[in-house]
Amino acid sequence: MTGLFISFEGVDGVGKTTQVNRLHNYALERGLQPLVTREPGGTPVGLAIRELVLHGIAAFPSFAVTGGSDVVEEGDDLGPRTEALLYAADRAQHVSQVIRPALQRGQLVVSDRYVDSSLAYQAGGRELTVDDVRGLSTWATHGLMPRRTYLLDMDPELSHARLRHQLDRLEVEGDDFQRRTRDEFLKLAEAEPERFVVLDANQSPDDIWQRIRRDFDALTAESGISGSSEQDSR
Ligand code: TYD
Repeated sequence: MTGLFISFEGVDGVGKTTQVNRLHNYALERGLQPLVTREPGGTPVGLAIRELVLHGIAAFPSFAVTGGSDVVEEGDDLGPRTEALLYAADRAQHVSQVIRPALQRGQLVVSDRYVDSSLAYQAGGRELTVDDVRGLSTWATHGLMPRRTYLLDMDPELSHARLRHQLDRLEVEGDDFQRRTRDEFLKLAEAEPERFVVLDANQSPDDIWQRIRRDFDALTAESGISGSSEQDSR
């Protein structure tokens, strides 16, 4: 398959989206045709799944009516296996509808989260086994993996303090969950050093970006993906 597939990973609040946007703009300046997407929620079906995984059944009040009032009981929340299957379902749709067709057209695809988030959150955080979660994602994606994964690493206690929105189901989990998630990301990076670039997310956004840009320039040269009008790098 042609094209170039890149993912960004990290615990919540590390500044992934800022770097995804910078890479998007840079790729546009270089005349590439980037397709920037995210998980969960990179397709219409995925958006419905996103509501369910991030907010539980409370996202669908009409299903949560019990005894004439809107009562959401604790037992109504998603079980860990259900949650893992929903993220895998989102990914299956995302790969078949968006990512694979774009790669087949030779495009650059940048995804804000991909398989490693499932391994870190559902296996590391929720304590399903890595093998089980990997098996699910491999099946869902027919084994499609990114060529490069930028992991923004930071102590989750610090990154969570930066969050400005109402917290979702994963973000309200306690410190232990967040720490296990971060540790799992680091383990994954250690196991695949040729795919991962680990970036210290305590650095300034500009410093992080310079590192990504240099790596991205080398990657595009090596992969042969090219733009119509190369411009001076920033
Ligand atoms: P994200 O879209 O990054 O959150 P936000 O919109 O708040 O920036 O991701 C939503 C949450 O889903 C995040 O807490 C991580 C979690 N997640 C998993 O647990 N497993 C997965 O496979 C993916 C893709 C995300």
